Amino acid sequence: MNAFEQLIGESPEFLSVLRSAEIVAATDVTVLIEGDTGTGKELLAQAIHDSSNRSSKPFVTINCAALPEALVESELFGHKKGAFTGAVSDQAGYIKQAEGGTLFLDEIGELSLAVQAKLLRFIEYGECQCVGDSRTQKIDVRLVAATNRDISEQVSKGLFREDLYYRLKIVPLELPALKHRHKDIQLIAGYFISSLSQRHDLAKPKLTSSALKQLQNYSWPGNVRELRNLCERLVVLLPGQEITEYNLPADIVQKENTSLAILKLPSQGLNLELLETDLLKQALGLSRGNKSRAARLLGISRDAFLYRLKKYSI
Ligand SMILES: Nc1ncnc2c1ncn2[C@@H]1O[C@H](COP(=O)(O)OP(=O)(O)OP(=O)(O)O)[C@@H](O)[C@H]1O
Ligand SMILES: [Mg+2]
Repeated sequence: MNAFEQLIGESPEFLSVLRSAEIVAATDVTVLIEGDTGTGKELLAQAIHDSSNRSSKPFVTINCAALPEALVESELFGHKKGAFTGAVSDQAGYIKQAEGGTLFLDEIGELSLAVQAKLLRFIEYGECQCVGDSRTQKIDVRLVAATNRDISEQVSKGLFREDLYYRLKIVPLELPALKHRHKDIQLIAGYFISSLSQRHDLAKPKLTSSALKQLQNYSWPGNVRELRNLCERLVVLLPGQEITEYNLPADIVQKENTSLAILKLPSQGLNLELLETDLLKQALGLSRGNKSRAARLLGISRDAFLYRLKKYSI
């Protein structure tokens, strides 16, 4: 199976990222994957490794945000016995552990400027210097980094080295947020509902079109991870059943009568009758004169719509 096949999606923005990833996977180019939380950065990093010619060698993940600042350097590059208090023996770093394979530096935006400088030297020359050792060692590792921060903003604030940023970002791989992948929501929900029903050995529930519409209108701040978790909850709680919008959590379902920011009342007030006339005309225009459809666009019955047309002599 192609390692990229487990990344589900067919929207053009997503497919173009996958195509670039497949191309870089065949090379040793350092890769920076950008994207909001839950968009699949780790899954993509693993797929790049699995389809590279390093796939039989280790894929080592290091979460830069979870490393204590004082230990980052020694965790990455290793240390010699006695290099600092507590260094009771020689210790290989993550880079050494990933030798021949891929080192995945997750949340790279969290690295201090001092460690960024050492990482840059490693990328440029493949040279790794253990803490407490004056010698450098050549280690063959392919680096894949990921971040959900806007690194260019970090660069402009002086928190991330510009030279390292451009060194990492040779081929930009930016995973789009789920809210920009409307076409993929049905596909991904269907995929998770099927695979998770199988995994839990439960009958597959069925998404109705009203529920799907709500999923497509939602903003998905947690992206694919949030959709996956929702699907798991539905599979477990409603096996074999029809899922309607009423089965969805309240924060996903859009309230019909919430205030619309686009219709914010100007401070100098407005003419309500003129506004209503205008909206009636716009609805007629959008529906090309179809009065039932125009009424639906305004959320009122056809009779109520006809009554208003008469009232304003439209
Ligand atoms: N395109 C996709 N197809 C199938 N599953 C996906 C896809 N994208 C993400 N997932 C799933 O969503 C979950 C989150 O993905 P992943 O951990 O790769 O996200 P991330 O971008 O690294 O998030 P974070 O920034 O929070 O670390 C995982 O369960 C992953 O398998
Ligand atoms: Mg991640």
